[in-house]
Amino acid sequence: MNHSDAPIVEALKNVGGYVKWCTPSILPEQEKIANVYKTDISVSAHFLGSYVDNTGIFGEAHKKAAKVYGADKTLFSVNGTTGSNFIVMRMLTLEHDNPQILVTRNIHHSILHAAEWLGVKFRFIKSFYDPQFESLIPPKPEDVLDALNNYPETDAVILSSPTYSGLSARVSDIVKVVKNFDPNIKVIVDEAWGSHFHFTQELPPSAMQAGADISVQSTHKQGGSLQQSGMIHWKEDHVNSDLMYEAFREYATTSPSYHLLASLDAVREYMEKNGREVIEELIRKADYFKDLLGKKLIPPMKIMDDSLEFDLVKDYISGYDRTKTNIALTKYKETGFQIGNTLSQNHKIIVEKSGLNTILFLTTYRLSYSDVERTVRALVSISKNLTKTDKKQLIPNPFKHLEIKPVIEPHTARRVAQTIGRIVPLEESVGKIAAEHVEVYPPGIPVILEGFRVTQNNVDYLMTVKKMGGHISARDPSLKTIYVL
Ligand SMILES: Cc1ncc(COP(=O)(O)O)c(C=O)c1O
Repeated sequence: MNHSDAPIVEALKNVGGYVKWCTPSILPEQEKIANVYKTDISVSAHFLGSYVDNTGIFGEAHKKAAKVYGADKTLFSVNGTTGSNFIVMRMLTLEHDNPQILVTRNIHHSILHAAEWLGVKFRFIKSFYDPQFESLIPPKPEDVLDALNNYPETDAVILSSPTYSGLSARVSDIVKVVKNFDPNIKVIVDEAWGSHFHFTQELPPSAMQAGADISVQSTHKQGGSLQQSGMIHWKEDHVNSDLMYEAFREYATTSPSYHLLASLDAVREYMEKNGREVIEELIRKADYFKDLLGKKLIPPMKIMDDSLEFDLVKDYISGYDRTKTNIALTKYKETGFQIGNTLSQNHKIIVEKSGLNTILFLTTYRLSYSDVERTVRALVSISKNLTKTDKKQLIPNPFKHLEIKPVIEPHTARRVAQTIGRIVPLEESVGKIAAEHVEVYPPGIPVILEGFRVTQNNVDYLMTVKKMGGHISARDPSLKTIYVL
């Protein structure tokens, strides 16, 4: 067979030589099924039970996972946290007519899309932004209470925690504030980046430990399983399990990859016995990386959890994901995009994310100490050619003027756009109501959102990111035009 005609196959044959500081952080020790092609099987093997109906081996695996991850109930996902967010949102619409949710500004697009699809109204909770580390800061409990006072008819508060940068919200304090306001309001945590938190006290508490009602996790990100696999966990005090199962049955594929499910099962088993040890080893490796960087790089690349600025966010967070190394390049003229590209092209090192002023490294289970040293050597050699500066202009908060609520509900904006929508040059869209959403990917947090007015900050930020080599996800990724009302 001529494989050069199969681009994905060809690409996968060549990814072996890279040092990967990125997802999926696959746990090498998990029990593996030897031959994927021989052992792939479907629901026709009915004696195994049904994933969609939560029966047989699937029901059993879900039950074991709930116990290990501190939940009353768990379901596995083969469509990442993206799919889980759709299921959770559907569950809300089965429970409430016209539900309304409060969300943090760093929410992933899957929550906003699910909300739009299902007609769930969302309002933002006030959030701050750290331009140096290009990071939205989780809200304080007081900010959540303010939002609840403004929107007392809220059915659920959704936090995205930990953030992509690794900042964990004060979930248990926020749960107290919400339940004190109204015990029936659910606290849902998009914990895509926190599936490893549960196993050690060296990391912030997991959402389940902190008393949240529901947590959705991308176990493939830092929890050890194969890409695409994740989990939904919940406590039954304020969640109707029948409705969650109903939403799951509506959404879940009838042909899941049993290998993805097996990987979740295997990781659960491994973590139950060795979770603490294996995750604390990740933290040691990340500390070693930060230590070497601190010693070798002059002027220092600033490290988020090491910087003086970290004190400024302390009141907003319950802790930091120490397996992450978020570096700010404030002392250099170059961007994170440039350094990320040099690392991959010249040194075969892939980072989790590059930004205008940052590079984010994820310490994965597969990285060795010699990979860490190789990366530091690469960064030291790159830093010799960088231009030092004391006056780098940081791009201000791109979300600054975004309103808490839309001018027109986003799903209505999309619909009326069919008749009164028009395409205009992006620079002329400031002050107009957007009829589409535009984001930088990663992280996948919408910068322009349908139904909201486009602001000058939005446009400046997107244009700068585009110019510097960032990836724009939009109808027109060239950013020449935008769809507005
Ligand atoms: C906060 C957050 N939620 C959800 C997702 C989507 O997760 P998945 O890729 O598992 O679908 C991401 C992806 O990066 C994310 O950052």
